[in-house]
Amino acid sequence: MGVLHYFNVVGSSPPSKDSAVQVIYQDTEKVSSRPSKVTPHQRALLLRGPREPYVEVSDHPTPSLDGNREFLVRNLVIGLNPIDWKAPDFNFGIPELPYISGRELVGEVAISPKRRSRFKPGDKAIVISTDYRDLRKAAYQEYVVATDFNAARLPPSVSPEAGSALGVAFVAAALCLGVCAGLDFSTIADGPDLLSMVRQIDPSRLPEDVRDECLHGIDKESRIQKGDWLAIWGGSSTSAFMLNQIARLAGLRTISVVDVRKHAVKMATNNITRPDIVVDNHDPQRAIEIVRSATGKRLRFAIDTVGRETAGHLLECLQQHYATEDEPDVSTATPESAHLIGLTGLPKSSPPANVSFHNMPIKLFHEVPELGEALMLWLERLLSRGLLVPPSILGVSEGFGAVNQALDSMRRGEVSGGRVVVRIP
Ligand SMILES: NC(=O)c1ccc[n+]([C@@H]2O[C@H](COP(=O)([O-])OP(=O)(O)OC[C@H]3O[C@@H](n4cnc5c(N)ncnc54)[C@H](OP(=O)(O)O)[C@@H]3O)[C@@H](O)[C@H]2O)c1
Repeated sequence: MGVLHYFNVVGSSPPSKDSAVQVIYQDTEKVSSRPSKVTPHQRALLLRGPREPYVEVSDHPTPSLDGNREFLVRNLVIGLNPIDWKAPDFNFGIPELPYISGRELVGEVAISPKRRSRFKPGDKAIVISTDYRDLRKAAYQEYVVATDFNAARLPPSVSPEAGSALGVAFVAAALCLGVCAGLDFSTIADGPDLLSMVRQIDPSRLPEDVRDECLHGIDKESRIQKGDWLAIWGGSSTSAFMLNQIARLAGLRTISVVDVRKHAVKMATNNITRPDIVVDNHDPQRAIEIVRSATGKRLRFAIDTVGRETAGHLLECLQQHYATEDEPDVSTATPESAHLIGLTGLPKSSPPANVSFHNMPIKLFHEVPELGEALMLWLERLLSRGLLVPPSILGVSEGFGAVNQALDSMRRGEVSGGRVVVRIP
């Protein structure tokens, strides 16, 4: 049976007494390195039905490569995401059964891509598997298919555990900011201008369900820029951790709504990762008032990482942006549009005039190779230059057999302010 190691992370919640996980010791570098000999069959975790635990098998076919941009990695560490337990519990995002889950990992390259590539056998790579319909790319198996445009080389300064836990949140944050809010990353380590990129691509190549967001989500004149405020609700999530860092690197001012009792100390200790202003979420109406007054009623951009209800709170924060008779100082004849971006839900009602609702277009990452590649090359530069701090690793489990227990901890809300990862020996 796998064991979960809990680190001493300031501000993180320890597991409860009756938790299935054990507190063992602090440890960061235990990833095994053995020569890769790819076998026709492999170990994998299968989901056989909704609301069932994952089952380990040892005779699952090793996935095969297709095209000249795919390569095969031997799995070293899996980063666990909320979708890994939410999909089976709520029966969504499971296109076939048995299903293989898992959205991110660090692996060692076993077979490199056919075409010239920056990935060579033996290299360690961060692999981000947003393409959940392609089971060959899922993380819950010994050998995983990666594409060179959805993977990044792991720099020596980043541990495999940390590398396995940052990719999905990075991509989500970059697409929220770069496409939905139109933030140009070119001033940060020569990052991409995603909005210009998607508008130069032949529209027929953009996935149909995200085409409108890409082409008409925001006017060029309304793009978020240096000095603008960004409000984030759910500031303790890993996505928010990445959003806040990228936003501040671009010169935005961030205001983050979190459970201050849980997260204040940790958030205050690191100057690179702390938001400009932290607001407690305990009393939502009070939090809305604070966001409004702190941003001088000029808030135009807000991102929710929690759900529909808290996205509604952010909508209230944004609506204050418009002029009132009492406060003509913020009045403009035609107020600039405001933008509410949801990672996991938006208010049910239609958006009011001058507010646009945005769903983060995650599909762009794996369906538009040049965009995915631009993000991965940028991630490599950000990590190797130490510009991006990886999320806290709150626990490390060993072996596929430990995944169900670790997901149970997430179900119980015990994983807060960081990620749990699973090493594959
Ligand atoms: N559409 C996409 O492609 C995409 C991509 C990335 C993320 N997402 C979604 O965005 C959301 C955030 O993802 P993430 O990976 O950033 O999250 P995360 O790092 O796992 O953090 C989630 C936060 O949710 C809170 N939480 C955890 N368990 C909870 C519970 N039982 N009840 C209420 N709150 C709970 C915790 O806040 P406290 O610290 O206050 O406990 C935790 O910090 C998720 O819903 C995820 O599925 C979607």
